Amino acid sequence: MENSKALSAGACPADPIISHSSFVSCPFFNFRTYDRNVEFPIVKDSVAAAAKHAIKQYGSGDEVIYALNDISVDFASGQFTAIMGPSGSGKSTLMHCIAGLDQLTSGSVLIDGLDLSTLTDKELTLMRRERVGFIFQAFNLVPTLSAEENILLPLLLGNKTGDSEWIKKVIDTVGLSNRLTHRPSELSGGQQQRVAVARALATQPRIIFADEPTGNVDSTTGTEILTFMRRAVDELGQTIVMVTHDPLSAAFADRIIFLADGKIVDEMLEPSAAKVLDRMKSLGN
Ligand SMILES: Nc1ncnc2c1ncn2[C@@H]1O[C@H](COP(=O)(O)OP(=O)(O)OP(=O)(O)O)[C@@H](O)[C@H]1O
Ligand SMILES: [Mg+2]
Repeated sequence: MENSKALSAGACPADPIISHSSFVSCPFFNFRTYDRNVEFPIVKDSVAAAAKHAIKQYGSGDEVIYALNDISVDFASGQFTAIMGPSGSGKSTLMHCIAGLDQLTSGSVLIDGLDLSTLTDKELTLMRRERVGFIFQAFNLVPTLSAEENILLPLLLGNKTGDSEWIKKVIDTVGLSNRLTHRPSELSGGQQQRVAVARALATQPRIIFADEPTGNVDSTTGTEILTFMRRAVDELGQTIVMVTHDPLSAAFADRIIFLADGKIVDEMLEPSAAKVLDRMKSLGN
């Protein structure tokens, strides 16, 4: 069976960002440690995810780098948040730590009120699979699977079928209905990114993290993807956290958090591209 090929060790496409993490190499492929008896309390908190006094330190002594330097932030349920800031300011690190893909040096991360540091590796894997969706710039699609199989993969790994009506709606909305049997290499960059977006939405996760989801696509496709993400928030109550460098993309969000040197230095509600540009200039970005 084709799926089993993809699920074998090493089938997860290498992601240079994720591989920073020492304890997990891919968001989906720790499935062997999956323990079906583990269950989490269902808490519909108004805060989908939060970091409290988050510190991420690399190196020590004179060489020390604080990728995150005491960050406390809440991501409200049903809200679309953009994270902006100069290169190296800690955006990806923050997102990876909150998503449970990387570990803080100190401080805590909560998803639905559950402190990730209290979870075993198995529980963390399950938590990520059930509650968290990821959209990375590098797509992370499995090359041997069709578009449809890629979209259904997180469900498949959890032995779930998902809500077929919802999945059809997601596939129709991202405009992939006539591309479902194609493999990633037979799709354009924009189509591949749409598959990645559909995959993140298919499981109806509590929160979706997106690291520059439109970085690799043309502006028309980028706008389509962002419009779809916006609709997922407005019509379906999805919670999204997105890293972006682009003021036009950030303007799709409800709220922007600006980072510099591992700290939150500013915040903006109801952003517009013009307001974002002004703010970036005033922050010397
Ligand atoms: N594994 C690592 N070892 C050492 N330093 C690291 C490591 N990963 C990240 N850093 C450092 O942590 C800081 C924050 O990195 P991060 O990737 O979060 O930045 P970013 O805001 O996402 O930047 P970009 O916009 O370029 O993607 C940077 O100074 C980076 O060099
Ligand atoms: Mg980054």
